[in-house]
Amino acid sequence: MTPVLAIDGPGGAGKGTVSKRLAREFGWHLLDSGALYRLVGVAARKRDTDFSNVSELADISRNLDVEFRISDEDELVQTWLDGTRVDHLLRAETAGSDASVVAALPQVRTALLERQRAFAQRPGLVADGRDMGTVVFPDATLKVFLTATAEERAKRRFKQLMEQGLSANLRALREEMEARDRRDRERATAPLKPAEDAWILDCTGIGIETVVAMIRERLQGALSAREGH
Ligand code: DC
Repeated sequence: MTPVLAIDGPGGAGKGTVSKRLAREFGWHLLDSGALYRLVGVAARKRDTDFSNVSELADISRNLDVEFRISDEDELVQTWLDGTRVDHLLRAETAGSDASVVAALPQVRTALLERQRAFAQRPGLVADGRDMGTVVFPDATLKVFLTATAEERAKRRFKQLMEQGLSANLRALREEMEARDRRDRERATAPLKPAEDAWILDCTGIGIETVVAMIRERLQGALSAREGH
């Protein structure tokens, strides 16, 4: 079976950076599952689909014409939807909250399930999301639930936006983040919660390098244990 590292947790905890870094180090594939939910929202807005039209949203999810390309120049992931690059639309805060709304619909989640599982290919997969360890990859080799206080997560996101030359308001960002977390935690289908066998890693006040090193060590341990059996 292909080894899978599942990294779940609330927004802004650093899952994206940590996942990308580990995928590159191990030479594994990367699944940014949040991007799929964001894409459903972006596609729905492009088509003027009403967010209460569940069957059309499920249809969009099933037929999403998406391609993730690693750029040769800067190793960043480019996202193409229906033949158009949509990276800039995807990272906007509205795309995050739209994603969280469509992600609460069981029909959308079911439509995206097999597409996500198909990412598990040799030599391995790092899967970043909210339900990687609980629903999509329940047999993952290692499950990490990466979290940090809302204040720290909002500050990190704020810094990220500033570095990209975008304007932001720290307080508004924190409120939006808390509202999104609440929606992700309280939904009935695949809510944001640690798997029973997840390692809960609170990275408040811990630098990204240290977090990567901590997970790398655990993963290497889990892989050796697997080979030993
Ligand atoms: O990780 P992200 O911020 O790109 O995710 C955007 C939203 O998508 C998030 O608020 C909840 C939803 N999501 C989900 O429900 N399940 C996942 N596996 C990943 C994301």
